[in-house]
Amino acid sequence: MFYPEEIVEEVRTRTDIVDIVSGYVKLQKKGSNYFGLCPFHNEKSPSFSVSPGKQMYYCFGCGAGGNAITFLMEYENYSFPEALEILADRAGVALPKEELSKEARAQADLKAALLEINKLAANYFYYQLKHPQGKAGYDYLRGRQLGDDTIRRFGLGFANKTGNDLYRYLRDKGYGDEILKQTGLVTIEERGTHDKFWNRVMFPIMDVNNRVIGFGGRVMGDGTPKYLNSPETRLFDKSRNLYGLNYAKSSREKYLLICEGYMDVIAMHQAGFTNAVASLGTAFTSQHASLIKRYTDQVILTYDSDGAGVKAALRAIPILKEAGVSAKVLNMEPYKDPDEFIKNLGADAFRQRIGEAKNSFLFEIDVLKKEFNLEDPEQKTRFYNSAARKLLEFREALERDNYIQAVSREHMINYQDLKKLVNSLGSRLGTGPEAGGQPKPSSYQERKKEKEDGPKKSQRLLLTWLIEEPRLFDKIGGIITPDDFKEDLYHKVAVMVFEDHARGEVNPAAILNHFINDQEEYKTVASLFHARLKESLSGEEQNKAFTETVYKVKKNSLDEASRTATDIAQLQDIIRARSELKRLHISLD
Ligand code: GTP
Ligand code: MN
Repeated sequence: MFYPEEIVEEVRTRTDIVDIVSGYVKLQKKGSNYFGLCPFHNEKSPSFSVSPGKQMYYCFGCGAGGNAITFLMEYENYSFPEALEILADRAGVALPKEELSKEARAQADLKAALLEINKLAANYFYYQLKHPQGKAGYDYLRGRQLGDDTIRRFGLGFANKTGNDLYRYLRDKGYGDEILKQTGLVTIEERGTHDKFWNRVMFPIMDVNNRVIGFGGRVMGDGTPKYLNSPETRLFDKSRNLYGLNYAKSSREKYLLICEGYMDVIAMHQAGFTNAVASLGTAFTSQHASLIKRYTDQVILTYDSDGAGVKAALRAIPILKEAGVSAKVLNMEPYKDPDEFIKNLGADAFRQRIGEAKNSFLFEIDVLKKEFNLEDPEQKTRFYNSAARKLLEFREALERDNYIQAVSREHMINYQDLKKLVNSLGSRLGTGPEAGGQPKPSSYQERKKEKEDGPKKSQRLLLTWLIEEPRLFDKIGGIITPDDFKEDLYHKVAVMVFEDHARGEVNPAAILNHFINDQEEYKTVASLFHARLKESLSGEEQNKAFTETVYKVKKNSLDEASRTATDIAQLQDIIRARSELKRLHISLD
């Protein structure tokens, strides 16, 4: 459901965030703000703040931030419309009924119907499991040491032997063949209809909002295929969903555990590791990585200890890295997977292994080492060279040195020798420190990021400044306009902040609403509104810092203008503006 902005605003203004949050978090007033223990990460002293003035919350510990709507979205896993509906209800605001185009309406209806059918099917399977006809399934799951609570929490079920009883059940509920075909749950052919899943224990797959989007089914024994999964449907996209994330996202751990299978996720959750997720019988994708990045930037890979598991880890590590997620690798030996490990050694031993999980780079070196026969001097040298080459991935001298130390320690290579090897290899390849100054960024992406960082930072700083101290608008009049914010997201925010200011008051919580559909964006914007400025600067230092920031933002904007200028007059204007900019001095007093 798409609600017009005015309605969203009305709900928001009639809602008090302190009211909402204190339903979940014990808050204490300190000055003009409230503080409490952050519900989004584990902490002992309160760094979670709620500002009645801004109508926003922000955690100085983990960076979670937003308004009343996003609070419910994060805490309760609601979608935006769901959160809005709850708040509207509380505030006594009547929401309009939806008006969609015919096609959008049809799409939305289809999706809603598929979700409804999946829910019915999940309930049906669960019901079977709990009744005599499902005894084989129930016994199988109990035999795998799953408790009743776990079975209920994951909604595990059983698909009968009968052949088409789910189909008949859904028909009875009023669904026709046309829609049932699209669920992937039944096959409808001339010869008759049958259920896709039969005689299997069933694992409903839920998305982050707890909606059933597909199923996995396991044979209760040694048949093939061992696991059968729903085909991809309008709802079910394997490369964008992670099994267990609906629960794992509210776990208070800072990291997620990533494993291979349904049973591993469930076994880990049952043992108290509620931060475990699995990709759904597919390889780990970059979409998985960005999904994870919404919740954390640290993971521990708990893949199977066999060759395939190691390979899967080696594949996932760079994908995670690219998305900005750092990985460690857990050693499962001598067991195959988390389920078996926990069954045999228990939760405490598993927790210990988590503590010992290996840095992904050192894991890669371990794997590399196995390719060489170290008894042979030539192969040993080749191993050293390969390790040294890999160490060159680190562009930061300090970071690289830390890894050189770690590798030399773990593999008993003399530190000085390894360092020399890395340096000489680096200068030969033109990447090392001896190739002259900074090592080169290793990828186009990183180069791009480096170049962008400076201007981006100044734009962010300037925005934060303006939001925090609206009087600064007077200081930049005639110099800075929203168009000087060249970073797309900051530009959008700047336009709104400037408009708000012109109207008399900047309204952070309202601005934030515009970014609600993109978690990444809204996090960034929320942090803009909460960044703390350096209060320790003396008056003159502040003038200097502010002037410098304004200078950088304007300079970057002029530079870009001169790159795209199409005529001489424009260029002359730019040149004039540049020389004026050189004389810029702003006093904040
Ligand atoms: P259990 O034997 O029940 O403990 O499962 P497991 O997780 O130990 O099995 P395995 O390591 O073989 O498989 C890991 C994951 O890969 C499973 O959870 C499934 O998602 C997927 N998978 C396994 N076997 C099959 C199969 O035959 N077909 C498909 N499509 N996926 C499979
Ligand atoms: Mn297993």
